[in-house]
Amino acid sequence: MKRDIGALIKKMTLEEKAGMCSGLDFWHLKGVERLGIPSVMVSDGPHGLRKQDDKGDHLGINDSIKAVCFPPACLSACSFDRELIKEMGVHIGREAQAEDVSVVLGPAVNIKRSPLCGRNFEYYSEDPYLSGEIAIACIQGIQSQGVGTSIKHFAANNQEYNRLSCSSEVDERTLREIYFPAFENAVKKAQPKTVMCSYNRINGVYSSENPWLLTDVLRDEWGFEGYVMSDWGAVNERVAGLKAGLELEMPSSNGTGDAEIINAVKNGTLDETVLDNAVERILKVVFDYIDNRHKEKLELEADHQEAKRIACESMVLLKNEGILPLKKEEKVAFIGEFFKKPRYQGGGSSHINSFKVDSAWDCLNGKENVVYAEGFSAVDDVYNENLAKEACEVAKNADKVVIFAGLPDSFESEGYDRKHMHLPECQNRLIKEIAQIQPELIVVLHNGSPVEMPWLSCTKAVLEAYLGGQAVGSAIADILYGIVNPSGKLAETFPYKLSDNPSYLNFNCPEKVEYHEGLYVGYRYYDKKEMDVAFPFGHGLSYTTFEYNNMRLSTDSITEKDIVTVSLDVKNTGDMAGKEIVQIYVKDNTGTSMRPIKELKGFEKIYLEPGETKTIEICLDSRSFAYYNMDIHDWFIESGDYEILVGASSRDIRLNATLHIENSQKLPLKVHMNTTIEELLGDERTKKYGLKFKHEMDVLFGGSESTSTDIEDAMADAMALSMPIRNLVGFGVYKKEDMLTLIEEIKNA
Ligand code: BGC
Repeated sequence: MKRDIGALIKKMTLEEKAGMCSGLDFWHLKGVERLGIPSVMVSDGPHGLRKQDDKGDHLGINDSIKAVCFPPACLSACSFDRELIKEMGVHIGREAQAEDVSVVLGPAVNIKRSPLCGRNFEYYSEDPYLSGEIAIACIQGIQSQGVGTSIKHFAANNQEYNRLSCSSEVDERTLREIYFPAFENAVKKAQPKTVMCSYNRINGVYSSENPWLLTDVLRDEWGFEGYVMSDWGAVNERVAGLKAGLELEMPSSNGTGDAEIINAVKNGTLDETVLDNAVERILKVVFDYIDNRHKEKLELEADHQEAKRIACESMVLLKNEGILPLKKEEKVAFIGEFFKKPRYQGGGSSHINSFKVDSAWDCLNGKENVVYAEGFSAVDDVYNENLAKEACEVAKNADKVVIFAGLPDSFESEGYDRKHMHLPECQNRLIKEIAQIQPELIVVLHNGSPVEMPWLSCTKAVLEAYLGGQAVGSAIADILYGIVNPSGKLAETFPYKLSDNPSYLNFNCPEKVEYHEGLYVGYRYYDKKEMDVAFPFGHGLSYTTFEYNNMRLSTDSITEKDIVTVSLDVKNTGDMAGKEIVQIYVKDNTGTSMRPIKELKGFEKIYLEPGETKTIEICLDSRSFAYYNMDIHDWFIESGDYEILVGASSRDIRLNATLHIENSQKLPLKVHMNTTIEELLGDERTKKYGLKFKHEMDVLFGGSESTSTDIEDAMADAMALSMPIRNLVGFGVYKKEDMLTLIEEIKNA
């Protein structure tokens, strides 16, 4: 339907316009009845609907309607499956239509900087490319149903502690390469209807009033067309926020923010067109929803099945020494209360009121050869002698043991961070005790973020079920018994211990968190440090095996404008059908700028019957090779060689090929008195001057004479290379004015 929103805004009073820029209550925007502007609702998000009617809260404390809890992001990202995530989005979008919710508050794409962030379970990955690809799929799925999304929390919200006031101190290159790309790609490729700004400050400025973030980058550079809403209570100064590009304050400020806007327009400190533009952006999204409103029925049972399918496709088999899948005829002891009471979602604003929950107990109880002992509780950390004794007894008499371990609810949640990476001590102790009497031991984990596994070497298999959504139990049962072949891979690294993590020294600080590790987040750090990890990024096993062959590049040399296609053949070499996730990493071998060893730039998941071979093709565009250059404040590709690595994980690279890129763009020459001889030598355009100056230095210090020793040569060389050219003036080789003329000549070279 064609609407004249501009004309509508002209009819609105100043009060009505200011009113549109904040919530009516916890979940609704205001409407203007006399003008036919409806009051629409928004609801959490991200992995299902948390629709509340009265008694709204943003911590998931009060009840919400019965809905379906799909697997939270920590698990669904491990599917590496764009189509699957899109379908999940379609189901969530349909539920939102059925419940008249105009915007689902998600996806949440903050980068997992530390395993301790209490909200990691709601986030996808430590890798910006993977986070962005999954977010795009989720947004496309939900928005295909005529419902909006709110990608959150923009940006650099990577800890829960003091999240409303703390400043994330991050350099621009790191923001651009690590913390922004998931938002950037999602905005450019999927246009979420709304963006939710984060609570925190970035380099001292609240995200909710940061014009660089909300306008220069988000709108002007990336082309965002929707409206920005605040996280719940994230507004610091309302008028500053509106000017910076924050259209909607959520929830209601009980009139405070609106009054400030009205006063600012009246006293001339706020241009009314800023307000008009904000109202226009909000109304466009509101009417977009209204115009796409359609009848939809809640299909909870069907959605539950979908939640199970997603869980099955995402769980990660971390270790398997031939012990899985289980066989029906084996007597299996299941231990741990999580078997009966799975932990399948995290606490806080994403908490769904699930209409039903599958436990593994529901699926397996009563079956022949299945026995159970509680062993430990799912809610606390108390070692209970009687429960432990009973569990050991049951374990001893079984063929195999599966321990369901995990983090109790109180160990990780929105609102606070974890203090350590341990499982409850009572669980670690019992796992070790059982390992001593029963070597046929499997551990299933329920956790939203990595845990240390001090018992890893005594177990034969570990299945990472993460927080699996409400169908978690049946998904685990199907994987354990081989009805489903596991195919998820880790979207984050599992370090051996917390202190291995790059953010260890700078996390959970009260006022300012210095992101000193810069680009080196997750595998980018562990790779550079050549550090062993418990399980690397991208790792995940299957009950079958895959072989990678015949890697080809569509060309071995491109310019900065071209795309290159990587193809390879993948064969299922085992005897069970299965899915494989093939990962493409790019390694910069030009040696010109500081870069991680390699970065994920493509992936594909494929299904293969036993013996079957398929060819996959993955395109790499210019962004796959670029880094953010701080001299030009833009993405830049260095000319030179790049290695394209094909891996089954970040630490299991199977094939590689070299690609040459010739970039016709050159970085601007920066030549001045303090440019070093080495810098001149490193750039083709200035190399000849570098050689000339180097020669002059050699002559001056006599370093190249045959009488000098190796060490003297090396010293003289190093000194000459690191010498700013002003020293040639100081040493009397040039007069100052001659050097200044020469600098001009070099600049024009
Ligand atoms: C969370 C958001 C959520 C909002 C509404 C905030 O506390 O950070 O992610 O969408 O509450 O519940």
